[in-house]
Order: sequence, then C-alpha cells, then structure tokens
Amino acid sequence: MIEWNAATIKDFQNTLLTWFDQEGRDLPWRRDHEPYHVWVSEIMLQQTQVQTVIPYYERFMGLFPTVTDLAEAPESQLLKAWEGLGYYSRVRNMQRCARQLLTDYDGQWPQTAAELTELIGIGPYTAGAVASIGVNEPVPAVDGNAYRVFSRLLKIDADIAKPQTRLIFEQAIARIVPEDRPGDFNQAIMDLGSSYMTARQPDTENSPVKRFNQAYLDGEELVYPVKTKKPRPKLVAYVAVLAQMDQKWLMVQRPSTGMLANLWTVPLIPVEERDLEEDYQPADLLAAIQAYFQREYQLKLTAKLVAGRPVSHTFTHQKWSIQLFDGQVETSDLSYFAGRAVTLAERQQLPMPKVQEKLFTRYAAR
Ligand code: ADE
Repeated sequence: MIEWNAATIKDFQNTLLTWFDQEGRDLPWRRDHEPYHVWVSEIMLQQTQVQTVIPYYERFMGLFPTVTDLAEAPESQLLKAWEGLGYYSRVRNMQRCARQLLTDYDGQWPQTAAELTELIGIGPYTAGAVASIGVNEPVPAVDGNAYRVFSRLLKIDADIAKPQTRLIFEQAIARIVPEDRPGDFNQAIMDLGSSYMTARQPDTENSPVKRFNQAYLDGEELVYPVKTKKPRPKLVAYVAVLAQMDQKWLMVQRPSTGMLANLWTVPLIPVEERDLEEDYQPADLLAAIQAYFQREYQLKLTAKLVAGRPVSHTFTHQKWSIQLFDGQVETSDLSYFAGRAVTLAERQQLPMPKVQEKLFTRYAAR
C-alpha cells in the first residue's frame, strides 16, 4: 500500500471533484441532500443497480414521501413497493428504523455516522453515505466501489472478503475525504467505480484519475481488489405447482421469518436435486406433488409438466432450480388449504418475490 502526501491528496480531490462537477450522473436522489432521500436511495442501491433502482426510488417517494409515511405504511404496501428488488429484509428494517427515528429521536436524523449506526439496518457504509451526503460530515462511505477504486489507486492488498479489512480502507480513505464536499467526493468515487474503474474492463486510459492509479501504472490493475472466493450457493430443487381452481390461482404465503419472509408464491414443493436432472421422471414428480397436495391440503390435483429446463434463480446462499407443473384442483373445499385462491387481479396485488415472477413468465410462455 502506498500513502499520498498532502499535496497529492489535494491534487486528487480537485481532479476528482472537477470531473464530478462536469460528468457526475444526474440521479433522482441527487437533486437535494435530504437525509431521508439519501437513506432510502442508499438502502435500495446496496444490492441493486442504479438503472433498476431509479423507477423504484421515484415510486417509493411518491408512496412514502416522509419518514412518517413510511413508519405508518401497512407491511403489504411496503412489500409491494419493494417487489422485484430482492433482499426484502431491507424494507422491513427501513420501516423499523423509521419508527425508531420517530419514537427515540423525535424524527430528527443523527448528525454523525457513529450515531447513525445505532439505527436499525444502518451499517457502516450506509451511515457513511447518509452522514457525508446528507449532513456533510467528512467521513468515507466504503462500499464495493470504494474497495475497488482505492485498492487500485493505493495498491491496498488486504482481502476485501474479510470483515476486518473495512477498517483499513476507512482509515486510508478518511485522510483523503475533503472537509468541504465529503458527499460529492463519495458519490464521485461511486461514479468512477461504475464507469472508468469497473471490475473487469476498466477504461483507465481515459480515466480522469489515471495518473493517481498506482496499480495501473504498475501494470497490475486487475489484481485489485484482492478478494478470496465465497463458497458456491447451495443448490435447492423445487417443483412449483401453478394450480387453478374455478379460474383462481392457489397461492401460499411464506413464513414470517427466513428467506422471502411473508411473500407470496405458488406452492413450492422441495424435491431431491437429482430429481430435476436430465433423467428425472415427470411421473415420479407428479406422484410426489399429488401426494403433497393430498397430505398437506386435502386437495385432489391433476397436473402436467411444463416443458423446458427448470427455472433457476440465485440468492446469496442458495440457488433454486424449479420445475413447473400446470395443475387443476377439482374441489371447492379449501378448508385445509393454508393459502388463498385468488383471481388474476387479486394475485397482482400480492407481494411476490422475483423468482415467482419468473415462474409466471415461464408459465405464460408454455
Ligand atoms: N451506489 C451506491 N450509492 C450510490 C449513489 N449515491 N449514487 C450512485 N451510485 C450509488
């Protein structure tokens, strides 16, 4: 790792901010510095790309223009507004945080990153972003962009997969964040990280900070950031039953804890992964789901396989592989069915995870 002297730091700040003033992206959450706006956008941007976030952000602000609106919203409305963004605990925690802010802080945002981390769902990155952009505190906001940009500029060798590495970056960047424009500085780093300093195909030749990029100057740019590999996500196989009864869809709600908590899907029946491989027998799967419907719901199901490869969806720690069945239930006694039979219009009101959207899309194309 190299260390810049005061003159280099000043030179870098000026170069970066001049570029940002000319080329920084015009994004809806940059039109003011309201901490509520900064917070919502940063939570959305944590796991989701800018282009995807933009319409969600605009819609969210229309629905919940203030912290109070968010605190008072029904959970189903919140989940609906978040539908498709994934990592739903983010929005549930946002509501808990909004309530905490109203009850414990009189609705006033704390003015430092250290105090912001006391709030529910606000980790060191979000605290740094809200403090620097929202209240002008000169602190770093260390996300994946900052890891990539500064590991290259300063040749920081620490493994970014390790939690303790964050401190090394925070300390290195803290020396460089300018007192007067910390929020613009941090957002300029984000813009650099998604333009000239991307992970795989950086365009350093044209980068405004090329001459500060020590890894590039040494011909080692793609060595950085140093990151050890995560274990592969665990494979999990399901059969999805898109079952109709009197032209209504059978939908079930997931448990209130765990993955995709409280969201709605069609019945998903876990099966052995090998059952979905090339040589699986549709008849065996059919027998398994009929037995499941009988046992769990006391429902008699007829169904046929939807042809094609299983639908696959990857979460952080799991990869789901799902084979679809198109089913009909021939009874109107739903007393044992632990879900709801809904019309198409009602179905569209239920909060659903992205993987469920994929299942309906595949079904529609059958
Ligand atoms: N990624 C994370 N935060 C961001 C922001 N404020 N602007 C653009 N991209 C971001």
